[in-house]
This record gives sequence, C-alpha cells and structure tokens, in this order.
Amino acid sequence: MKAVIPAAGLGTRFIPASKAQPKEMLPVVDKPVIQYVIEEAVAAGINDILIITGRGKRSIEDHFDKAIELEQLLRNENKDDQLKEVQKISNMADIHFVRQKEQKGLGHAIYCARKHVGNEPFAVMLGDTINIADVPLTKQLMNAYEKYQCSIIAIEKVPREKVVNYGIIDGEKIEDNIYKINNLVEKPSVEEAPSTLGITGTYVLTPEIFKCIERTKPGVSGEIQLTDAMKILLEEQSIYGLTFEGKRYDIGNKLDWFKANIELTLKREEFAEPMKAYLKRLLND
Ligand code: UTP
Repeated sequence: MKAVIPAAGLGTRFIPASKAQPKEMLPVVDKPVIQYVIEEAVAAGINDILIITGRGKRSIEDHFDKAIELEQLLRNENKDDQLKEVQKISNMADIHFVRQKEQKGLGHAIYCARKHVGNEPFAVMLGDTINIADVPLTKQLMNAYEKYQCSIIAIEKVPREKVVNYGIIDGEKIEDNIYKINNLVEKPSVEEAPSTLGITGTYVLTPEIFKCIERTKPGVSGEIQLTDAMKILLEEQSIYGLTFEGKRYDIGNKLDWFKANIELTLKREEFAEPMKAYLKRLLND
C-alpha cells in the first residue's frame, strides 16, 4: 500500500513559527514532525510515500534528500553514529513529492495524489500529526482494511466542547474498536454533533474517493473538505471507524506541540531522568 502525506497547508494556527518554515518541519525533541510520520509509515510496512507540498515547503524535500557534503564531513571526522543517522533519513523509503498549487483544503490536497496512487487503496497520514502506539496506527488501519475491504478511518472520543474542531462521525459499534459509519459532519456545532467521535487524521481510503472529491463543493472555511468527500463516498460504499489504543499529538496547534515535546522527551532513555528532575524542580518552585 502507498501512503500520501499532505503537508501543503499554510499552518495559520502556528504563526509566527510557520511564517517562513513548514510547521511539518518543527522539531519534536530532536527530529521534525514529518519524520515521525514517515517512520510510522515505514513501521507499518509502507515504502512508497507521496508527500503533498507547496510553496515554502522546500526544506521538507531537503530533509529527505541525500546530504552529500554533510555525510563527507561526518565520515572525515569519524562521527559514525551521526553519519548513520543522516543516511537513515534519506534511505527510509521511496519518497515522492507533488505540489498543491493552491491551498484549497485537505480534500484538494489528497486529490493531487490521484495519478501517483492509481486504482489501489492507500493510506493518508497528516504531516502535522504524530501517533504513538505499540502497533503503528496505520498498520492497525491496514489490518482492518484487510478484514472489511472498505475505507477505514481513525477516530477518537473528544470532549464535547471540542467537536467544533473535528470531523465527527455518526456510527454504530460493531466490534470492540470498530464503528460502521452512517454519517459524517465536518466541524459541527456542539448542538448538531451526532456524537463525540472525532476523525483524527489517519485513513485508509479506496481510490473511489478521488471521484468523490471531484464532486465535493467547498465547505467549512471555503475549503474542499475530505470529510465532505467521504460523505459522498458513503452513498456508494461502507466506511468504518477505528478507535485506537495510543496517543495522538496534533502538532498544528501550539499547546499540543509543547506537550508532545515534554512527553516524548520523557520517553527517551537519555533525557528521561534529567527532564523529570527538571520538571519536578520547576513545579516545586
Ligand atoms: P490543517 O487542518 O492543520 O490545516 O491541515 P493548515 O491549513 O495546515 O493549518 P491551519 O489550520 O491554518 O493552522 C492538516 C494537514 O493537511 C495539510 C496540512 O499541511 C496538514 O499537514 N493540508 C491542509 C494540505 O496539504 N493542504 C491544504 O490545503 C490544507
């Protein structure tokens, strides 16, 4: 299965940091957010990845390119660990790029992938979202796809007052962690939301979604919304939702980015103890 990673958005929630650099390149601990996303795809067994980029996103391409001068320097200085680290990034997978020329929304970004994807199911992983789970979330979705042979999307219970920030599903539970979706609404008001199950940004979609995107009119914020296209897809095919065990960080919003940095630093062996001691001191003060 191929993966498509939309990373062309303007990142207005992260201004000023995102003014001249992609929010997908913001570091969390010691690597850019989008590297976590690619690592999840690779851990799920995917090795053909298409990143949707746009103006001002060149540093994403540079990050996954071979850094010949840097490699030579590290080799000359016998810095083997750093050399391996640098080489690993450019060898992780076959990474392709296509540009979304106008930022017309997530649905439109996915549409830019249609030629690369062809007539096969494919995974979509947002370029600004890190998922931490024992079994990679994308792999969980791929396994569910094997079983149901339909589009399947990651969902999560969100606090009722937050439904306005999500695509929300209306569905019935058919297995412990699987819902059959009856309807989807993009960013509903608290009163209109059919549930508190929000779409979190990782999907396995059937290729019929592309035809549905063509028929999708601009929705919330004047953008071509993927949720609206999935609503059209639902008229002809089933779609399932999967609630996953794990943790998600939407790095596109500042507070979650701070939290991701602290929590993922605490998960790193070399930083955990000094970070814990520092946080304790800080809180005691
Ligand atoms: P967001 O919903 O976070 O939108 O996109 P955004 O425009 O980047 O950010 P804000 O809301 O203005 O702060 C989720 C993912 O989809 C990509 C983004 O780059 C991000 O990784 N995206 C969004 C596109 O590729 N193209 C778009 O037109 C919109």
